[in-house]
Amino acid sequence: MTDLVSVADANRVRTIRMNRPDKKNAITRPMYAAMADALSAANGDDVRVVIIAGAPGAFSAGNDLVDFMEAPPHIGGEDTPPVEDFMRALLACEKPVIGAVDGLAVGIGTTLLLHCDLAYATPRSMFTTPFVNLALAPEFGSSQVLPGIVGRAVASELLLLGAKWDAARAEAKSLINAVLPEAGFDAAVHAIAEDLAAKAPAAVKAAKALITTPEEDLHARIVREGGIFAGQLRSQEFKEAATAFMERRAPDFSRFG
Ligand code: COA
Repeated sequence: MTDLVSVADANRVRTIRMNRPDKKNAITRPMYAAMADALSAANGDDVRVVIIAGAPGAFSAGNDLVDFMEAPPHIGGEDTPPVEDFMRALLACEKPVIGAVDGLAVGIGTTLLLHCDLAYATPRSMFTTPFVNLALAPEFGSSQVLPGIVGRAVASELLLLGAKWDAARAEAKSLINAVLPEAGFDAAVHAIAEDLAAKAPAAVKAAKALITTPEEDLHARIVREGGIFAGQLRSQEFKEAATAFMERRAPDFSRFG
């Protein structure tokens, strides 16, 4: 248990917040464990969207370096370290996850965003993955996912040069969706999450599952989508969407899933 991570649910949105501002939200093993639990539980709980947030000015300074030295994690080793539990839970989260970055996003603070569905940041945010500077190496698929998002040369700015990106560059390179003002940032991200939480939950889940399914033969993908599309056409969710359209009202998906 740790009080350095808080978990709060409101309007079917779960906010997992790192709260260790005196250490710029450097993440310890108990913090990873708490976040892993909250993410895993989200699959079964009555929440539809998860936000991962930090403290004002410090989303995260990355893995706690003292922890790194005391208990170096061996990813893929016999005993799964808490950081791996956390990243596995993030990748396995069936519901959309939104990264809400206000301030520093160092190391895994940036890596984790690559596995979120959406990410927003304040203008004072800074993104860097200084692994090579620390004589370490890229982690958790970032050497594959980041070049896929920004291209190899641009990814190498972060992964080889250890560059520091400001929020504008992160937005320009699609690492984040948008830069939002610092004033009202949490509320603005929550509003986006609530918008998503109001949509048909099975449809959202299916869309996320498709988006995160590894690339495959295009025909196979079309067939896969088609099966889900056909299933959704027969669903109560679609019935509600179509009825709402006919009745010229907003659909109400609150009773589903
Ligand atoms: N692990 C452990 N402690 C950390 C930490 C980390 N990753 N990052 C910051 N801290 C601690 C500092 O030791 C300091 O503790 P102290 O007040 O007890 O001395 C406190 O957080 C504040 O950090 P400070 O360096 O004074 O803040 P800053 O605003 O000048 O710089 C950073 C912030 C994040 C740029 C800087 O702390 C830093 O480079 N941290 C290391 C980041 C890193 O390498 N992460 C791992 C990537 S794999």
